[in-house]
Amino acid sequence: MSQWLKLCSKAEAPRPGRVMEADAGGRAICLANVNGELSALGNLCPHREGPLGQGWIEGNTVICPWHSWAFHIKTGVSEYPANESVDVFPVKVDGDDVLVEIA
Ligand code: FES
Repeated sequence: MSQWLKLCSKAEAPRPGRVMEADAGGRAICLANVNGELSALGNLCPHREGPLGQGWIEGNTVICPWHSWAFHIKTGVSEYPANESVDVFPVKVDGDDVLVEIA
């Protein structure tokens, strides 16, 4: 069963080209804004658990701030190196809240 949980307010959400860390029910999330569209990924990099939400955006990827692994914002699949991934979560804006769907 999944549920929609509040991640942050709309005003707190990152501006285009930015990422941030947030928490949804105890789950650490990286919230990214690319061209005004929000995406939610697991915050912990599978390499050494670097905080993706403290990284940055390049194209359609979030770059881990520790050793620059790159994850596609929609699929969570790594573009560098190959064959790595993080979870991705449905995200939506409901009124003044940004919600994420956690399984
Ligand atoms: S911890 Fe993310 S690239 Fe090393």
